[in-house]
Parts: sequence; C-alpha cells; structure tokens
Amino acid sequence: MHKLLLFGIATLLLGCGDSAPLGSISGQHQVDSKTGLVKRIFDQAQIKRGESVYAENCVGCHGPNGEATPDWRKPGPEGKYPPPPLDSTAHAWHHSTEVLKKTILKGTPPDIGSMPAWEGKLTEQQIDDVIVWIKSLWSDEIYDIWYKNFEGK
Ligand code: HEC
Repeated sequence: MHKLLLFGIATLLLGCGDSAPLGSISGQHQVDSKTGLVKRIFDQAQIKRGESVYAENCVGCHGPNGEATPDWRKPGPEGKYPPPPLDSTAHAWHHSTEVLKKTILKGTPPDIGSMPAWEGKLTEQQIDDVIVWIKSLWSDEIYDIWYKNFEGK
C-alpha cells in the first residue's frame, strides 16, 4: 500500500506534471486547478449504462456502490476470498483498465476465486461501460494515483 502510494507520488513528481500550468490540458488529461488532481472526463451516458450493467449482473456479489465485502481480506470456509469492494477501499484501482477488463472477461480460476467469467454473456461495450462506472466510484485522490500509474506515463 505504502509502496504504491509512494510510486504514485513519484510518478506525480516525475511523470506528467511537466511544466504544464494547473488547469490546462496536458497530454490527454485535465488537472483541476484547485486540487491539482487529474480530472475525470467521463461520458455521463456511459456511466449510466455501466450502472445498469452492474445492477443486473454484479450487485448481488459486489454490493450496492461496489462496497461489498468490507471484510474482503478474510478468506471464506473454502479458502476462497469473498468478492472485494470495487470502490476506493480495496484494490480494483491497483489494476490497469486492461487487467480489469481481462478479470471481468475471464473471471478467476474456480480453485482461486469465484468471480464468474462474463465473456459471451456481456458485450465488450457493456464491460467497458461497467469499468467506467467502477472508476466513477473512486475518490478524486485514488483516481489521480490510478491515472498516473497507468495512463499518464
Ligand atoms: C458470484 C459472485 C460475483 C459476481 C456476480 C461478480 N463478481 Fe466480481 N468478483 C467476485 C469475487 C469472489 C472476486 C475475487 C476473486 C478472487 O479473489 O480471485 C471478484 C473480483 C472482481 C474484480 C477484481 C477486483 C480486484 O480488486 O482485483 C473485478 C474488477 C470484478 N470482480 C468485477 C465484477 C463485475 C464488473 C461484475 C459484473 C459484471 C462482477 N464482478 C460480478 C465475485 C463476483
């Protein structure tokens, strides 16, 4: 955790900060002039679509607003981990978009976890939509760290 935060801070210092004035567009992202954090420029319609995909397919395990399971670090009786929260409190944001997509498409091997594979059940578009919805749950600080680790190099 600490390592990752430090990494985040290091990339913040070394990475895309450059000498772009705050609030300007640098590369493909915008920085909030008040907080200095990367702004999310998401399509609200896509977030709505992602929310529906989530409500129909994921909420039963990952809970409302992606908040289940608070005790996600504790394996259940079979030694498998429960569905982790997808918000800022667990580690969905430790993964690139590509890895998140792969996890959703392929699920986790049954001997390791019980995340189902969605390949063939959801379209790629639905998966992209639900990933954007998941990112919309993250705090501004977490999104900023995530962005700088994975997109802002
Ligand atoms: C049957 C319960 C169940 C359903 C339904 C389910 N998941 Fe999961 N999900 C899990 C479990 C359990 C894990 C943890 C797997 C592991 O420990 O390997 C997980 C892991 C994940 C992860 C990785 C999180 C991380 O921190 O690495 C993502 C992303 C995810 N799920 C998204 C989704 C999405 C999106 C849907 C709906 C399309 C969904 N899940 C539906 C049980 C479920």
